[in-house]
Amino acid sequence: MKEPLPRLDSNDKLKALILPYCRLKKGEIWVDPEKGHRVGVLDCCKKEDVAAIMGKNRANLVINDPPYNIEVGNKATGNLFRHEIEKYMDFTARWIKNADDFSSKDSYLYIWLGADQKNDFSPLPEIMILMRDFESYRSRSFITLRNQRGYGTQKNWMCIRQELLCYQKGSPFFRVIYTDIPKVLKGYYKAINGKLTENIERSRSETLRPGNVWIDIQQVFYRMEENVPGAYAQKSLKSIERIILSSSREKAVVADFFAHSGTTLIAAEKTDRKCITFDIDPVFAELSIRRLERFRKTGKTGWQCGNPFPEIGSAASCDTG
Ligand SMILES: C[S@@+](CC[C@H](N)C(=O)[O-])C[C@H]1O[C@@H](n2cnc3c(N)ncnc32)[C@H](O)[C@@H]1O
Repeated sequence: MKEPLPRLDSNDKLKALILPYCRLKKGEIWVDPEKGHRVGVLDCCKKEDVAAIMGKNRANLVINDPPYNIEVGNKATGNLFRHEIEKYMDFTARWIKNADDFSSKDSYLYIWLGADQKNDFSPLPEIMILMRDFESYRSRSFITLRNQRGYGTQKNWMCIRQELLCYQKGSPFFRVIYTDIPKVLKGYYKAINGKLTENIERSRSETLRPGNVWIDIQQVFYRMEENVPGAYAQKSLKSIERIILSSSREKAVVADFFAHSGTTLIAAEKTDRKCITFDIDPVFAELSIRRLERFRKTGKTGWQCGNPFPEIGSAASCDTG
């Protein structure tokens, strides 16, 4: 099996071929006629762009996955860029301000992040410190996912981390969503009403409760149904569904300023939330809308090794940029 589309963010020729088939141009917004989701081609740093897509909505949950300022797959691109840290932090401060301004008083902000071990773990500490300037937000959790596609060396620990910061404003809703990992360890005896019980007897679920280290979620790769060819930075649906189910109620407004493959959109559709999402690049906004349409038509969450842009035919596979 081979992916029909190479990494789109590093292939300007291919993006130019796809552009005529994108229904949205810069500044435009698609409103989903069925469930009211919104997808735009907008800039997360511009307050007027965020205001346009949010309208009167205020997000109950923001799940943002910005470029990490790290070369992914040894390539920095216009979409997944690497800037001087000052410029990157200016970009970050702007979108965080917009997330703050357009979310409700009781809400969560989740930030997906990387930490470059070759560069003082930047930008993780800078962003943690920046968040202290936002008085409305309180730190809530510092989650790490196991990302087994990590980059390695024979002389260092293989880097298999994906960071996820959770902040909250006010006192938002939270509920525990259990993992699929069966509880196997007995023990932790405790007397309840005079009877000695062990932990499995006392617990509310047969499976483990997730902590802040998530090792049970498979990173997306080309053999999975949810794979979106061309989207190099795709997050897993399971991780975003876990965030949505634990940190928002049904019908809540979930915002994502960095749509890319549209994972938050699909997760919101599956969990009966309303998603407001955008990307600066029309190609990724189109990919997100097509992924939703495909999901509704076929029940499939991605294309696995299919081509989301069949219009460009064989141009996709022969031009790997
Ligand atoms: C790391 S990816 C997001 C991945 C996404 N969570 C997923 O599962 O597919 C970052 C995205 O941010 C977009 N982006 C970069 N700068 C942006 C900006 N100023 N405003 C909005 N989107 C931007 C890029 O085009 C890229 O698609």
